[in-house]
This record gives sequence, C-alpha cells and structure tokens, in this order.
Amino acid sequence: MTERTRCSDFSAKNIGQHVRLNGWVQTNRDHGGVIFLDVRDRFGLVQIVAHPDTPEMHKLAHSLRQQDVIEVTGEVIPRSDETINTKLLTGEVEVKVVEIHVLNRAETPPFTLDDNCDAGEQHRLEYRYLDLRRPLMQQHMILRHKVSHAARTYLDEQQFLDIETPILNKSTPEGARDYLVPSRVYPGSFYALPQSPQIFKQLLMVAGMDRYYQIARCFRDEDLRADRQPEFTQVDMEMSFVDQEDVMHVAEGLILSMLEAGLDVKPDTPFKRITYPDAMDKYGLDRPDMRFGLEHTNISDLMRKVEFKVFREPAEKGGLVKVLRVPGGASLSRKQIDNYTKFVGIYGAKGLAWIKINDISSIPDGLQSPIVKFLPEDVLHEILERSGSENGDLLFFGAGDAKVVNDALGHLRVELGRDLGLYDENTHSFVWVVDFPMFGWNSDEKRLEALHHPFTAPVQEDMALLDSEPLSMRSQAYDLVWNGTEIGGGSIRIHDCETQAAVFNALGISDEEAASKFGFLLTALQYGAPPHGGLAFGLDRVLALMLGTDSIRDVIAFPKTQRAADLMCEAPSEVVDDQLRELGLRRSRLQANS
Ligand code: AMO
Ligand code: AMP
Repeated sequence: MTERTRCSDFSAKNIGQHVRLNGWVQTNRDHGGVIFLDVRDRFGLVQIVAHPDTPEMHKLAHSLRQQDVIEVTGEVIPRSDETINTKLLTGEVEVKVVEIHVLNRAETPPFTLDDNCDAGEQHRLEYRYLDLRRPLMQQHMILRHKVSHAARTYLDEQQFLDIETPILNKSTPEGARDYLVPSRVYPGSFYALPQSPQIFKQLLMVAGMDRYYQIARCFRDEDLRADRQPEFTQVDMEMSFVDQEDVMHVAEGLILSMLEAGLDVKPDTPFKRITYPDAMDKYGLDRPDMRFGLEHTNISDLMRKVEFKVFREPAEKGGLVKVLRVPGGASLSRKQIDNYTKFVGIYGAKGLAWIKINDISSIPDGLQSPIVKFLPEDVLHEILERSGSENGDLLFFGAGDAKVVNDALGHLRVELGRDLGLYDENTHSFVWVVDFPMFGWNSDEKRLEALHHPFTAPVQEDMALLDSEPLSMRSQAYDLVWNGTEIGGGSIRIHDCETQAAVFNALGISDEEAASKFGFLLTALQYGAPPHGGLAFGLDRVLALMLGTDSIRDVIAFPKTQRAADLMCEAPSEVVDDQLRELGLRRSRLQANS
C-alpha cells in the first residue's frame, strides 16, 4: 500500500502520481454531479473530486459529512484554470478518487470548525478537542512547539542541563496561595504543588550542576486574569558563578532565540534598562510599556501649598499628586473624560481632575477646567512648565495614596496610548526593570514582604540598611518587560546561610519557622553553595504576545477558565466518601449541606 501523503505534501510536480491521504472532511459540495470534498489534516487541505463515472465511490462521497474521518486514494491531477487556488499549498492540483474508506463517522460538530468560528469561549472550551482541530488553534500549538524547541536548543548549546524537579513538594513561596495535595500515607499532611521550581533549582546549583533549565509547570492559586492561569509554564533556568549581568545576557540570548523561532523579529540587544523608581515615577507601573511617551509628572511638592484639599492632603500626608499630559487631548469630549474617570475608579481613584489648555499665553482664562479656580497662578505656571504643556493639550491629575495614584494613572496611560493610537502594533519594546526594592510593606499584616521572593540577594552595600532602613534596600532582581507585559523575572540569590537567615528574620519569619519550612535550604547553603542566580520566562505570556492575543488561554491546549475550572472534563469535581476516608479527610458540615 502506498505510504500516507500529508495534505500539504504535493503540488503540480506530483501530477500523475497516486497518493493516499488521511484526514477530516471539511466541506462537501455537489457541482452538478461532480462531488468536491475538502479534506484536511494538520498539514494542509486538499481538494478531492469524485466523478459519477465511479458510481460506488461517487455515492459514498455524496454521503460524507463534515468531520467524517476518511482515507482516500487517488491520482493527482491538475485543477482547471478557473479553480486554481493560489492561497493553498496544494491549490494547483486535486486528487481524483480511486477509492474512499470511511474510517469513522462524526456527529455534526457543535460549532463550525474553521477560522471564522464565532462560538463563545465557554462552548469552545467544553469541546476543546474540536476547537483545537481548527487550523488557527493548530497554528497556535505548532508555534508553542517551535518556540519551546528553540528555547531548548539555545539552552542546550549554552550547556544547560534539562533536569526535572518534583511536583509533589513542600510549599515554595512565590507570593500566591498553594495548591495542596493530601497525603494518604501521612494522614493530615499535605504536599504543595510547586509555585515554581525555585528552591530545587537553587539546590541543583549547590549540587554542582552549574547550569540548569526546565520547561516547568507551575501552580498558583491566585486571582485569575487573562494573563494568569492556575497552572502555567515557565522556561526556568539557573546558573552558578554568575552576576546579574551574566544572567541578563543569557536571558537576552534565550528570548531572542524564541522570538526568532516564533515571530521572526530581532530586537536590538542589549535591551534598554530602567530602574524601578524611575519606572514608577514616569509610568506608574513596574512594567512600563515604552512604545510611547505620555510620561507622568510628579507635582506633590507644589501641592503642599495650595488650598484645594483634594490635592493638598495627599501631598502633606506622604501620598502622591501626579499629572499625565495628553498632547492634543483638549479635543477629548466630556463623555470621553467621564469614561476615563470611571476607568480610573477601577483602580481606586476617587476622581480624575483635568485641565484643557486652550491658550497657554493667557492664564488662567486660557485654561478650561473644574479645578483651575482652586489653584494659584504661579502654581498653574509651574505645572504647565514641568509637564511641558502646549496649546491643545489635556492634563489629567491623580491625587491620593501613592499606590492608588500610580496604579490609576499607570493604567490610564496604557489605555490612552491604545485609544489614541500612539504606537504601531508592529513595534516591539523590550526593557529590563532593575534596582527593585528588596522589600515592600504589607500594610494589612504590618510587616515587610519580599518583593521578588525571599531567596533574592540584596545589593551588597545595602545590606548595612537591613536593621535601620530595610525599605530603602535594593535587591539584585530584574524583570523583563515586553510591550508592557512582564514576561520574565529573576534574581541573584542569597548563597550564604547567615544572610538568608537575616532576610527571613526581616520578613518576620522566626528562626523556628525558617527551620521548619526551609531548614533543608539553610543546611544546603552551609555545604559549599556557589554564588548563583537565574530567571524564568512565562512561556504562555510570551506566546500570547507573539500572537497578539490578550488571553493566554489561546496558547494553552487545555486551559482553565477564569474560575479555575476545566469545562471539558469538569474539574475540579467531587470525590466519594471512601476516597476522603482513605486520605483522612472529612467533609465539613458546610459542604455536606451544599
Ligand atoms: P515569577 O513569579 O516572576 O518568578 O514568574 C516568572 C514569570 O512567570 C509568568 N507567570 C505567569 N504566567 C501565567 N500565569 C500565572 N499565574 C503566572 N505567574 C507568573 C510571568 C513571570 O514573569 N522563581 C521565580 C523566577 C526566578 O527568580 O528565577 C518566579 O517564579 O511571565
Ligand atoms: P470634587 O471637589 O470632589 O468635586 O472634585 C473636583 C475635581 O477633582 C473633579 O474633577 C474630580 O474628578 C477631581 N478629583 C476628586 N478627587 C480626586 C483625586 N483623588 N484625584 C484626582 N482628581 C480628583
């Protein structure tokens, strides 16, 4: 029997040959007695013709329905001139049926399996195996394969070892809630699924593996968004005897190899860098989209002396007052401004004051605004000068708690950049954010928390500030941001036991707690741990950006919903009492009643 030919593997040069194809019937058209079938496999699409002069096969072809699985043998013949389809790899030829075997019949699919499918995502996720049969989704999976393959090849060339780390773990703190797995053998005890392979990759450095990588599944029980899944994939790596520059250099090579495989773009390296304080100051977010301007201007100092309470109070009480200048924004309508005011409300902003600059040479009369009357002329002059304002501009103001103002004006900047078309979709901006603070302040729990994770090394000379001014300490952490999305992050790690213990203490982790949670790491650090550091890229996010899709669900074969459910197999699901008993678990009254 002839070998199977893929539905992409032949062209005019194969005319006259006999082929055997396998695939799914995409369409079935009866053109005055001649039946045309489009048959598709992962590789392409071929037109099959069945003529009435082969009555048995013609009848069978006639009976075929969308998505039936068939095997066709036939002869490659040229298409008539008017039916040549230049969009198809096989568009100059068709296959004249000799024989058709029906391998399996299909029910009518619940939605159309082509790229114009307008089924809702819920429906597509329920029948994901059909959704994945669509050429678009197949392209996504092929891209995913190519990009992770390129990452592996690059890391292999750089002498990284691919080493698997456990999934049934002890908790690894990455700032999210753990998924827990009850132990049958140790009733009342639980494994945690890894939030990342962080501790194990560090232990592999202690073990002398020198360079490790893994395309690793990570699990985090956190609030989900379009760019967050409860289980997701990292391209994770770690290196010994390196400093921050070394890791960033290898990481640039890694992302470049992935980009070349997936997008065919080659951004200039080394990538730009911005410090965390600068990013927050100018863009309000630690993942600045630097494809466009719209930088923020801090005017907190000016606002201390004004009477307008909305601005003066935050300025006096350690909050923030910032301006976002929108060049040409004076043409925005009242309705648009109202919509932006609603938008910043999502981030907790209590309002969005604004000034339209109609005539900069006449202050205050040339300014149109609900707040100009509250601001003295000299202050208005200074605001306009600092923000570089010109006629026709609009200034937006945010005042309040620093976090709220940065969040609100940071997101407003991104929204305006998109709405006003301030960048070309085909440009790519990569930027490293560096000099992160070592700690943040958790105001609910009134304690320091690690901004990256608790194994991140401080900048050496800042260690002296640990007792007196921990919030001023910088860490040796770095994030890579692509068009405003954080695609990866890492750090140089603490490799001596004393510093690690001191940092745990600063985080409010007592010696006992540190010993019980991370004793094995502290012990390992005493047995000749080399200096080391690494980074992890979020593979799903990288792929989503390559495809220009907002949702990482589009690049994951079997993703979960925003409510962390698998709609196809209906996970999570109930378990029977026997299973619970075996695990030493009992239903709470709450569950039993529900
Ligand atoms: P971090 O927590 O910054 O670092 O994660 C690294 C990258 O993983 C991606 N990411 C996610 N993608 C999808 N869904 C999620 N829920 C999700 N959470 C994170 C992001 C992020 O930049 N162990 C450290 C790395 C290191 O220090 O080497 C870590 O996990 O793109
Ligand atoms: P009000 O005095 O509350 O009517 O506010 C006057 C103007 O200030 C309105 O345009 C509000 O949108 C704006 N505003 C109120 N609170 C804030 C705030 N926290 N930040 C920025 N603008 C604000």
